[in-house]
Amino acid sequence: MFGKKKTIPQIDKEQLALIKYAEKRIKQKKGVYVHFVIFLIGAVILILANTVLGIGETFKIAGLDWFVIAIVLWLAFFVYHFVSVFITHKFMGKDWEDQQRESLVAKQQERINKIKQELIKEETEMAKSEVFNERILEAVPAVKKKVERTIIVAAGENNAIGKDNDLIWHLSDDLKRFKSLTNGHHIIMGRKTFESFPKPLPNRTHIVITRQHDYKVPDGVIVVHNMEDALDAAKRDKQPFIIGGGEIYKQSMGIADKIEITRVHHNFPHADTFFPNIDRSKWKEIDRIERKKDEKHEFAFTFLTYERKSF
Ligand SMILES: NC(=O)c1ccc[n+]([C@@H]2O[C@H](COP(=O)([O-])OP(=O)(O)OC[C@H]3O[C@@H](n4cnc5c(N)ncnc54)[C@H](OP(=O)(O)O)[C@@H]3O)[C@@H](O)[C@H]2O)c1
Repeated sequence: MFGKKKTIPQIDKEQLALIKYAEKRIKQKKGVYVHFVIFLIGAVILILANTVLGIGETFKIAGLDWFVIAIVLWLAFFVYHFVSVFITHKFMGKDWEDQQRESLVAKQQERINKIKQELIKEETEMAKSEVFNERILEAVPAVKKKVERTIIVAAGENNAIGKDNDLIWHLSDDLKRFKSLTNGHHIIMGRKTFESFPKPLPNRTHIVITRQHDYKVPDGVIVVHNMEDALDAAKRDKQPFIIGGGEIYKQSMGIADKIEITRVHHNFPHADTFFPNIDRSKWKEIDRIERKKDEKHEFAFTFLTYERKSF
């Protein structure tokens, strides 16, 4: 009941053709051997017929006995037979050759079709994964997070930001906030603002805009000659900061996505540099933190965050 399952030998068409071919070859080789034996016996008989029985004793062709001519012709035929079977394989016939060619072409075609199918499968998989990635990015905006060019500034009620290439106030918490927001980011600035620092700020990549082509800076500071190149130099940063001064702020109001402004609640009529007006039709306030005047802070101030309105 649980005996071994009897295996039925399966011979496919190709194996059958090979067996037939092998049989044909054996037959042909035997044929050559038989031909050789008959040739030897025949040659002896021809020689005896002429020399012993005297058949055609006087018949000669080109001075040679007829049996010599007959044996040479037979030998030539035998050589042709031998070469055809063992060397050129002609004796397999044209049909066999065509069959072999067709089978080879069919095999190649089969392989081509298989490769084509694999390629189609791969392309479909790739297309599917691309569509999937696009959908993920659409569905999860955080993944597709765009670059957020951020202006950071401290300005008085009259938009004053500096005088004689320096700040007009000292608000330690504002400096701390500037430090923490810009830490690890690219900071884009005009040449004058850069020169107002005693030395480059640590842990930030400085990008200085100047029209001077021979402007010298310490190692690590990037010099560019227009705003476009400045943004390009910071393109790997998801939040590059534009840190001033007056000229640079003016040029970046149209390209910024966010403004972090510390509004210092005081007027500074003697300032010489100013921040542009924030057009409320274009910017919406999204955050505010108010700070009172205290012993460390000479003026009250408010941290305000604006985002560009999307239309
Ligand atoms: N309160 C704040 O938050 C704040 C922040 C930053 C700065 N500030 C103050 O702002 C003042 C400096 O501002 P600022 O307006 O005088 O100067 P700035 O904007 O810092 O720098 C102006 C310089 O930048 C270069 N520049 C500007 N636009 C350019 C362009 N399109 N292509 C090539 N180069 C360009 C020019 O340099 P070259 O002359 O070398 O060609 C130009 O002289 C200082 O008082 C500083 O303390 C205040």
